[in-house]
Amino acid sequence: MTILTVATTPFAGQRPGTSGLRKKVSQFQQPGYLENFVQAIFATVGDCQGQTLVLGGDGRYFNRTAVQVILRMAAAHGFARVLVGRGAILSTPALSCVVRKRAAFGGIVLSASHNPGGPQGDFGIKYNVGNGGPAPEKFTEAIYLATLSIAAYRISDEPAPDLDQPGVSHIEQMQVEVIDPVGDYCALMADLFDFAAIRALFASGFTMRFDAMHAVGGPYAHAILEGMLGAPAGTVVNGTPLEDFGGHHPDPNPVNAAALIELMFAPGAPDFGAACDGDCDRNMIVGRAMAVTPSDSLAIIAANATVAPGYRAGIAGIARSMPTSTAPDRVARALGVPCFETPTGWKYFGNLLDAGMVTLCGEESYGTGSNHIREKDGIWAVLFWLNLLAASGKPVDAIVREHWARFGRNVYSRHDYEAVDSSAAEGLMAHLRGQLDGLTGQQQRGFTVALADDFVYTDPVDQSVATKQGVRIVMTDGSRIVFRLSGTGTEGATIRLYLEKYEADLARHDIDPQVVLAGLAAIAAELSQLKERTGREHPTIVT
Ligand code: G6P
Ligand code: ZN
Repeated sequence: MTILTVATTPFAGQRPGTSGLRKKVSQFQQPGYLENFVQAIFATVGDCQGQTLVLGGDGRYFNRTAVQVILRMAAAHGFARVLVGRGAILSTPALSCVVRKRAAFGGIVLSASHNPGGPQGDFGIKYNVGNGGPAPEKFTEAIYLATLSIAAYRISDEPAPDLDQPGVSHIEQMQVEVIDPVGDYCALMADLFDFAAIRALFASGFTMRFDAMHAVGGPYAHAILEGMLGAPAGTVVNGTPLEDFGGHHPDPNPVNAAALIELMFAPGAPDFGAACDGDCDRNMIVGRAMAVTPSDSLAIIAANATVAPGYRAGIAGIARSMPTSTAPDRVARALGVPCFETPTGWKYFGNLLDAGMVTLCGEESYGTGSNHIREKDGIWAVLFWLNLLAASGKPVDAIVREHWARFGRNVYSRHDYEAVDSSAAEGLMAHLRGQLDGLTGQQQRGFTVALADDFVYTDPVDQSVATKQGVRIVMTDGSRIVFRLSGTGTEGATIRLYLEKYEADLARHDIDPQVVLAGLAAIAAELSQLKERTGREHPTIVT
C-alpha cells in the first residue's frame, strides 16, 4: 500500500500545556488538526526507524479514531512496532509501565485527564519519552515550534487493524501488537505490595468502595481489587469506561466524587473509599467520615513506606510540588532524607527520580506516585493505603490522626476561581508580583511575612531553570498563601489559591479547615484585590 504525503497548513495554538495538548473534541475533529500535531511529535522525537512505540488512551470520545490515525502515521514514519492496549485503552500509569518494561522508544497517551469527555467535551494527546515519563519542556516546545511551520504530514493509506482482538497484525512493514492493557501493570503492582496481606484483609470482611468514575481505572480496579485481591464483586462501581464518563467530571476530589463522599460520611459506610480520574493517574483516599488531603496522603505514605515490600529498604527522598502542603517536609526531616520542592507538573519529578534522589512524589492536585514508573499513579496510591491498612490493622482516620499527633497538622485548602476572564487573572497575578518586594516583614492579621516571591526552580540534576511558577507568601510560623494560574483549564483562566496553616496543638486538629484558614484567606483576598479584579465573591470550588 501507499504512504501518502498530505499537504497541510499550521493550526494556531498547538502548544502543549502542563500535560500535553488539550482542546475541545471539536477542535481535534478539524481535518488535519490531530495529524499536524502527531507529525510534529514524530519530527521532533528523532529517528523513528525501527523503534517501538506504546499507544493507548483513557477511552474517551475520539480515542479510537485518534489511535487509528496515529497507527497509520507511525507506520509512515518507519516505526517497527506499536504496542497498543486492547480497545485502544491504556491508563497513563500503565502506559508508563509498558514503555519502561518493554524498553520502548516512547509512548503516546490520549487523554484530557479529569476534564469531561464526549462530543462536547475535551480531548488530549501527550508524548512520553523512553523513561516512561512526560516529555520535558524543551521537547514540548520543540514540538510546538514544529507545528508552526508544518507543510505536510505522512500517513499510510492502509486501514488500522481491529483493536479489540489481541494479537499481531501489520500496517505497511510495521507490526501492530494489541496487548492486554492491564497485564504488565498488574504484575508490577503485585511486586510492590503485599498482596497476600491485602487478600487476608478482604477475606476478614473488610469493605471498600472504589469509584472508577466510568473512566479508564475500571478495568484495572476490577482486575486487581476484585480479581487478584478477592474483594467482593461490587466493590468497584462505575467500572466500565464510557466515552463521556457518564456525563460526569472524572476528577477524584470531594466535589466531583460527591457520591463516594456521601457514602463514606453516612452511617454504615465501608471501611475504605477511593476514586481515580479519567486516565487513572490521580487518586482520592477516603476513610469513614474523613477525606484524606493529597498532601497528607503523601506524608503518611512516606512515614510508613517500609510496610510495603517494594519500599522495605526505605526511601531516598521525597519531592512535592510547590503548592502542596509542607506536611511531607516534616516526615522527610524525621527520616533524615531530602524533600524537594518543584513546580507544578509531574514532569518536574522525572530528573529527580531518574537520578535516584527521590523515591516518592506527590502533588496537591490528587497525584501520588513513586519511582516504579514516571507518572503519578492512582491505583498505586490506593494499593499503598490498602497495604498500610492491612499491616497496621487500624482504620484510615486513626492512621491520619496519629500522624497529626506525631508531626502536627498542616491544615490545608485550595480555593479555585474557574472561568475567570483571562486578562483579569493575568492582571491579578501581575498586581501580586508587583508587591512582592515590599512584603517581607509586614504584619497582617497576626501573621508576619517571612518570604514573598514568584517561585523559581533550578533543577538540581540538569540545572534547568523554571521561572514564574506561582506567587508564594510564607509566614514566620510556616503558614503559606500561594497563588497560581491553572495550566490545564480549557475555558478562560482558573485562579488557584492554596492556603496552609500549621497546627501543632492536638486540641485544634478537629476545627473546620475553612475556619482555621479564614485569616489567611482574607489576607490573600486583600493582597490580590480578588473581588475587585474578578468580580467573584466566592470560589467556584473549595477542596
Ligand atoms: C496535571 C498534571 C499534574 C499537575 C496538574 C496541575 O494533572 O499532570 O502534574 O499537578 O495538572 O493542574 P493545574 O490545573 O493546577 O495546572
Ligand atoms: Zn489524570
